[in-house]
Amino acid sequence: MNPPEIEPFFDPRTSTLTYVAHDATERVGVVIDPVLDFDPVSGRTWTESADRVARFLERERIRVPYVLDTHAHADHLSALPYFKERFGALTGIGAGIVQAQRTFQELFNLGEDFATDGSQFDVLLNDEQILDVGAFELRALHTPGHTAACMSYLAGDALFVGDTLFQPDYGTARCDFPGGSAEALYASIHRLFERLPADTRVFTCHDYQPGGRTLAFESTLCDQRESNVQLPEGMALDHFVAFRRERDATLSMPSLILPSIQINIRGGDFPTPEANGRSYLKLPLNAFGGKS
Ligand SMILES: [Fe+2]
Repeated sequence: MNPPEIEPFFDPRTSTLTYVAHDATERVGVVIDPVLDFDPVSGRTWTESADRVARFLERERIRVPYVLDTHAHADHLSALPYFKERFGALTGIGAGIVQAQRTFQELFNLGEDFATDGSQFDVLLNDEQILDVGAFELRALHTPGHTAACMSYLAGDALFVGDTLFQPDYGTARCDFPGGSAEALYASIHRLFERLPADTRVFTCHDYQPGGRTLAFESTLCDQRESNVQLPEGMALDHFVAFRRERDATLSMPSLILPSIQINIRGGDFPTPEANGRSYLKLPLNAFGGKS
């Protein structure tokens, strides 16, 4: 079995990386963390980002048995349904999504017709679960911390970590969203260090290009262990937790968090249309701290 090839796609509006991990001979692959474009001012959605990925898949004639999210993203809308409809892919996310669904059902007062059993997704992945992609296998690893349900996906020597780790010069995920935990993030990252080879390639879900540097999204677990600016080698758990708490308190809410969460806990689907046939998102007043 050859390790899959990795094709990255960068969405500059949300600084998100979408990946296709694929076998070029067997022409089969998975899409990870696809973006649905969204303008919060007009409420318009469009598919420029997903279309770029689709064009690649169609040009290379790649079958897509699965399209996966690493977690319920808070900074962009998920395009899982686009790949389900266009390529027949099964949608998947970590099984812990059900906790996020319960939390946000309450916050957004979604009522009983919003299912909190994960049934909006085709596959709910547990720790160490293997997905057979055809030419290669993908292993799901539960890496909570940024959210309780965060997963990393290992395909060959490529590890897709979602927001668990950024490039070493940027650091680690914030842990102050509902279900987040700096203790859990510390444990998840060290678990990756202990369980996987040091030369495992790490692909991050975002790159914010600190200091205006050029786009970068690939490192190794060795790079991360040796030079992650927010988790230097040997940093004790309590230091990391104190650091994260202090840093997270200074961060403003991601601008798309409220729309993103409402779409992404539905597996990328829009809320059920109202009597006039239109879908609406809610804006809960004074539910979050944020800056005044
Ligand atoms: Fe995230």
